[in-house]
Amino acid sequence: MVDGIMTLTGIGSHHSARRGSNVWLTPPRILAVLGPFDLDPCAAIDRPWDTAREHIAPPDDGLTARWTGRVWLNPPYIAVNRWLSKLAAHGQGTAIVFARTDTRWFDAAVWERATAVLFLHGRLHFYMPDGSRAAGNAGGPSCLVAYGTRDADRLATCGMAGKFVPLRTS
Ligand SMILES: C[S@@+](CC[C@H](N)C(=O)[O-])C[C@H]1O[C@@H](n2cnc3c(N)ncnc32)[C@H](O)[C@@H]1O
Repeated sequence: MVDGIMTLTGIGSHHSARRGSNVWLTPPRILAVLGPFDLDPCAAIDRPWDTAREHIAPPDDGLTARWTGRVWLNPPYIAVNRWLSKLAAHGQGTAIVFARTDTRWFDAAVWERATAVLFLHGRLHFYMPDGSRAAGNAGGPSCLVAYGTRDADRLATCGMAGKFVPLRTS
């Protein structure tokens, strides 16, 4: 899938900023607090700000590309398991995903492989490619998932409202 279209079901799809939309960008305050990142392998084609030093956006495929350095990942929801698994194997970076703790992908790629999780307080408002903040919230809770001790340390000390859960120590 190299079209950047997100079709959501379940959490986040009802009464939310994401309903019927294609591209929802990470709130810039999160990038400011957690960055800088070396690579965003699933970047927006039209982006109002950089999310990392290097970006991979459609028609290039970030899922099959070689990843280097510290990765920022706000994956297309439709293939979240594949993107998270790749980040887990890469071992250096942070992802933002819905806090779907009951799903297979969360179990396999977060509970089993992440270094730490920060469950964010409340619901986020994502942004649109023109740089404006979505009027509605995401429709469900989000979390930040760290792979590697450096990214886990950043989550632990970033000051964002939420609950930090360490999963692994080196
Ligand atoms: C949820 S948005 C996140 C955008 C940006 N990374 C951010 O954090 O604000 C997901 C993005 O993934 C990109 N995308 C979808 N499939 C991709 C692929 N196979 N390779 C690279 N980028 C892809 C789309 O351009 C879309 O903007």
